[in-house]
Amino acid sequence: MAGTAAGDPLLSRLRGVVRGGDTVLDVGCGPGRFALALAPEAAKVVAVDPSPVMLSLLRRQARRDGVDNVETVTGRWQDVHVEAADVALCSYVLPLIEDAGDFLAKLDASCRRQAFVYLSAFSTDALFDPFWRRFHGAARNPAPTYLDAMAVLDELGVSARVEIVELPVRSRFTSVAAAARDYRQNLLLADTAEVRKELRSLLAPWLVRTDDGLRPPLQTTPAAILRWKPTGAGRQSLPSPRSARHRAVAGS
Ligand SMILES: C[S@@+](CC[C@H](N)C(=O)[O-])C[C@H]1O[C@@H](n2cnc3c(N)ncnc32)[C@H](O)[C@@H]1O
Repeated sequence: MAGTAAGDPLLSRLRGVVRGGDTVLDVGCGPGRFALALAPEAAKVVAVDPSPVMLSLLRRQARRDGVDNVETVTGRWQDVHVEAADVALCSYVLPLIEDAGDFLAKLDASCRRQAFVYLSAFSTDALFDPFWRRFHGAARNPAPTYLDAMAVLDELGVSARVEIVELPVRSRFTSVAAAARDYRQNLLLADTAEVRKELRSLLAPWLVRTDDGLRPPLQTTPAAILRWKPTGAGRQSLPSPRSARHRAVAGS
């Protein structure tokens, strides 16, 4: 997910619908890989994220790229007030949201032509599961996937089209010890010499060596692009907006 959106399947789908003169809304934009890639093709992009750090990264990159038509809005999507846009997207945010219903209803209500939600079609917990069982003695509850998002949209009366795409697994570790540190955190394990040693012995034969480091034994994972024409289903139940900080990139 990190880095630019170049080559990402969602970007080509978005480019297929964004026309010159359009406004685009990127909800949970992070450092802005989609917002920045779409800015040259749109009249304006509004990029919303609660993290000031993410938004300052976005603004810094925008200045480097000479992009001056991205407006950043600091706040949670549930709380901010923004104008409806022609095209709205929300990439890899939904699993972080407790009340996906209100969140998606607001996305639907804030978009005039086409809404996109992008999220994994693969629970990374599946990857961690054998390790989780080994240390915790039970299966790990899987995180939500696109199927849960589809069910929520269905409840809202939104019928989304689904496309499954494959994304390359980009995570690389410089060493087994580095992987063990990462997995220890993901597996919520205590930082003891014993845990570190056991993790290293489990990971060493499992990780795959590549030219640029060690990776999990998967080359790609599936992701889902959900897209729909807005129904206005959410308009009746929009949460009341709180104040948010809007900033245009130019001069920030
Ligand atoms: C995994 S990142 C995805 C960033 C970007 N959309 C991408 O695909 O590269 C998740 C982002 O969602 C943001 N986020 C978390 N809760 C949010 C909320 N309630 N409303 C809007 N954004 C939120 C986080 O701050 C973070 O930048």
